[in-house]
Amino acid sequence: MSVERLETIRTEFLSEIAAAGANPDAIEELRIKYAGRRSGLLQDLNQTLRTLPKDEKRAYGQGLNELKKLVDEQLKQAKTKAAAGSASAHDVDITLPGVKLHRGAKHPVNIVRRRIEDIFLRMGYDVEAGPEIEDDWHNFEALNMPPDHPARDDQDTFYVPGGLVLRTHTSPVQTRVMESRTPPIRIVVPGRVYRRDSDLRHSPMFHQIEGLVVDEDITFGNLKATLETFLHALFHDHNVDVRFRPSFFPFTEPSAEVDITCIFCEGKGCSVCSRSGWIEILGSGMVDPRVFDKVGIDAERYTGFAFGLGLDRVAMLQYGIPDLRQLFVGDQRLTRLFE
Ligand code: DAH
Repeated sequence: MSVERLETIRTEFLSEIAAAGANPDAIEELRIKYAGRRSGLLQDLNQTLRTLPKDEKRAYGQGLNELKKLVDEQLKQAKTKAAAGSASAHDVDITLPGVKLHRGAKHPVNIVRRRIEDIFLRMGYDVEAGPEIEDDWHNFEALNMPPDHPARDDQDTFYVPGGLVLRTHTSPVQTRVMESRTPPIRIVVPGRVYRRDSDLRHSPMFHQIEGLVVDEDITFGNLKATLETFLHALFHDHNVDVRFRPSFFPFTEPSAEVDITCIFCEGKGCSVCSRSGWIEILGSGMVDPRVFDKVGIDAERYTGFAFGLGLDRVAMLQYGIPDLRQLFVGDQRLTRLFE
């Protein structure tokens, strides 16, 4: 009678474990049902053993032991199958090397911007910013470029409805700072600027950094010394010479364009510098007293100098990038070089 019960349970168990297959939850349920420590069936059967008369005990005990062994082995096998099954279900070969993700990198223009900011921060300048959508007054008028001024033609302007423009240079921030502060002023202003132009050396959006110093007794000598110090620091691995050429900007008088010896041929003459041995790097000059008048700074008391240069151009020179537009298309073959 009781031995037959063992047989029934064995059959039931075998069909249930077959049904559970490699399903880990089903296998665990069966483990609890049969081999659970507190209320598992095998535990019950153990209790029965004690109540049996002596002559039945032996056969029953033997049967029960075999059943226990069987349940143990079957559960173990099923668990192994379940573990293997879950790995193959995800199709993962954990021995394969991982796929490398690319880390982000600083953009070359930002690297140049930070280097230039650092040089001027060390000289006691502040870093300022201004709006990219500008009004005519700050971008042109206050910089001594009235509506019919020919210099406006050089700056193929993007117009925005409402008499606004996309700023064509960072110089309008000079105007804003001078309007709102009293000297001494010592600032650099990096930022995006916009012109309707696109070729190897131009992009409709590019970057400039502007500098402005206003105080009593600021001279052209200060301008020269500052820009020479700056350019030697910026191109410190190239031992460059710096040359000042007379030039014209509506907002400075006198004005100078500044060249460095070509860093590719060291002044001998090559295709980058059009055989001249020099590369034009920035525009500068003494702030025109008419600009001081427009922004309400006393031109009798104060003088100042200003300068502006293209960040993209410096990045092209320093990293040998031939087409300026490559900087802005987001091609990872370029940006990965800076990881
Ligand atoms: N704003 C000029 C440009 O975009 C660059 C420039 C020249 C800025 C002379 C200055 C300066 O501050 O003094 O071409």
